[in-house]
Amino acid sequence: MSGFSSDWLALRAPFDDAARSARLARAFARLLPARAAIVDLGAGTGASRRALRPLLGDGVRWTFVEGDAALLRHAVAGVPGARGECRDLAAGWTPVLDRGVDAVTAFALLDLATAGWVEQAAAALTRRRLPLYAPLIVDGRGHWSPHDPGDALVDHLFRAHQRRPKGLGRGLALGPAAPARVASAFRHRGAEVLSSASDWRVPPDATAMLAAMLEGAAAAALEQSPADHDAIAAWADRRRRQLQQGALSLMVGHRDLLIIPRQDGHAS
Ligand SMILES: C[S@@+](CC[C@H](N)C(=O)[O-])C[C@H]1O[C@@H](n2cnc3c(N)ncnc32)[C@H](O)[C@@H]1O
Repeated sequence: MSGFSSDWLALRAPFDDAARSARLARAFARLLPARAAIVDLGAGTGASRRALRPLLGDGVRWTFVEGDAALLRHAVAGVPGARGECRDLAAGWTPVLDRGVDAVTAFALLDLATAGWVEQAAAALTRRRLPLYAPLIVDGRGHWSPHDPGDALVDHLFRAHQRRPKGLGRGLALGPAAPARVASAFRHRGAEVLSSASDWRVPPDATAMLAAMLEGAAAAALEQSPADHDAIAAWADRRRRQLQQGALSLMVGHRDLLIIPRQDGHAS
C-alpha cells in the first residue's frame, strides 16, 4: 500500500474541495435515503465526510475503510457512530458491503487501483446495486505554467510512475487510465456513469502545494529514470526559481465519477 501522510492530505484538501463537481455531489446526495449508511473506501482522514456534510448533515452512518491505522483514527475521531475498518483493500474487503449499506464513496482512490481490482469492485457493487461516488481520479491532463522545455520529459516520467504498482490489486496501477477504465467496467454491467472534470488549479501564491508537487514530480521522474538525472535536476532548479519569484502555477486534471447501478435486476 502506498504511504499517504496526513500532512499531504491536509495540503491537498483545499484544492480537492475547490475542484470537485458540485453537480455530481448533489446528484449523489439525491440518491440517498435519510440517515444513509455509506462505506468510504481509502478514507484517509475522512475527507469524504467533510465534503459531504453540508449536503448530508450529521445523520450519515459512516464506515471508513482505510489501511493506515493512524489516518483511520483521525477519520473516525469526533464522528458520532462512525465505524473504522482497518483493512487492506487489496484483500477480502467486500463483506463490508453486506451490512445494510446504501452507497459507497472512494475519494482520490481509484487511480491507485489495478484494472483487476476495479473489475472486482464493479462486480461487487453492481451485484449489490450500490451507487459509487468517486471524485478526484487523476486523468493525465495537466500542465505547468509557464511552459518549460523539460516539461515533456518530467511529465512523461511522472505519469509512468503513477502506473507503478500501488498495492491496490496485483500489478500496475491504472493511474491516468483510471477514469475511462472505471467507467467502462461499470457501464459493461449496465450502470449509468456520470462524469465531470475536477481539475486542481494551483496558483502562484500556493507555494507549499507547488513546492510539494514539483519536488514530488522531480523525485518520481528520477526514480523512474535515473539516467535522466541531469535534465530532471535542471528542470527542478528552474521551477524552484520560478516558485520563489511567484511565477509558477499548475493545473492537474482529474475526473469525478458518479455510478448509478441499474435497479431492474441486471447484474454482473
Ligand atoms: C490519495 S489518498 C485519499 C484519502 C482520502 N480519501 C482523501 O480524499 O483525502 C488514498 C488513500 O487510500 C488508502 N489506501 C491506498 N491503498 C490502500 C489499500 N490497499 N488498502 C487500504 N487503504 C488504501 C491510503 O492509505 C490513503 O489514505
